[in-house]
Amino acid sequence: MRTLDDLGDVSGQRGLVRVDFNVPLKDGEVTDDARIRAALPTIEELREKGARLLLVSHLGRPKDREPEFSLAPVAEYLADLVGTQVALAPDLDSVPDGDVVMLENIRFEPGETKNDPELAQRLGALADFYVNDAFGAAHRAHASTVGVVEHVGNSAAGRLLQREVETLTGILADPGRPLVAIVGGAKVTDKIGVIDAFLEVADTILIGGAMSYPFFRSQGHEVGGSLCEAEGVEPAARALEQGAGKLRLPVDHVLGKEFSADAEPITSDEIDVPEDLMGLDIGPKTAELYAAEIKAAGTVFWNGPMGAFELAPFAAGTRAVAEAVAATDAVTVVGGGDSAAALAQFGLDDQITHMSTGGGASLQLLEGKTLPGLEVLQ
Ligand code: 3PG
Repeated sequence: MRTLDDLGDVSGQRGLVRVDFNVPLKDGEVTDDARIRAALPTIEELREKGARLLLVSHLGRPKDREPEFSLAPVAEYLADLVGTQVALAPDLDSVPDGDVVMLENIRFEPGETKNDPELAQRLGALADFYVNDAFGAAHRAHASTVGVVEHVGNSAAGRLLQREVETLTGILADPGRPLVAIVGGAKVTDKIGVIDAFLEVADTILIGGAMSYPFFRSQGHEVGGSLCEAEGVEPAARALEQGAGKLRLPVDHVLGKEFSADAEPITSDEIDVPEDLMGLDIGPKTAELYAAEIKAAGTVFWNGPMGAFELAPFAAGTRAVAEAVAATDAVTVVGGGDSAAALAQFGLDDQITHMSTGGGASLQLLEGKTLPGLEVLQ
């Protein structure tokens, strides 16, 4: 992978830097700036080297030029962080001069997600060199992540993309042992590729969240009203068969009548769920067992919450895992927005070795698949 070290002298040159500033906004304000801060090392390094930057990002999935998908609040936010003006260019034809300029949401261009060659060429014409630091979008073959590269002579991965790839591939290739993977969330089918990859290399895989229920169903248990993805049952059964000894399922859980902060939490050692209840969290015994595995680990990878942590009565399991991940001496790597959101909710997000900025991209990389945005930078 070519990095910023391979770009040569960029002083006085215009660099097109693809960043992933697809951040949550509320009432026109940035509510989570992790992705913006994560891009600062690249922005600062290139500015110190004397380059002028044109930052390109997407925001959400606009269908047209809806104002709520404008990057204006992000440009303003970044200006404060970098201490210089960040002008927002409304489109490719009106890019002002300036040390740091941001292009309006690239998905306002209909050709972006189609990797349209004409758009790629127009983007390339705006710059002397290209840097991709948008790890979160590196699994998308779009004009600003893939097509543009052939239209700019000099290209490289930014520091964030470099760190993400080195860390995530590193935990599969040469992890400190034991390697413990915690996989939670709603759907087995979203995570089965990662579970398969960890079945090869991990010492222990801890399963939690609603995706436990297809595993339980495959063992013949009743799941009651729990969220239980039907298509997940077969892959769960296969993973259980292959992962004998490695895969741990909850031994108790917290049930409720409905997905609501008003539902009374009922802790149960019985895996069978009565018809009128649903599983909403791992139980205290499971939390203790999982915390002990995390404490004894050399490397921990965590993707997906253990339950409905956004509802106070059902947050204890995810909190216990988050606290154990924050406290362990192991190298800790967290992928996926929900686990990061849980850590932030509990005030523990600064106690992680590497918090990935990519959801889909980190899963795809761990599954051993290539990322199109990365492939073109070889
Ligand atoms: C993300 O938030 O996962 C990335 O920014 C990619 O966004 P997308 O799924 O809309 O391509």
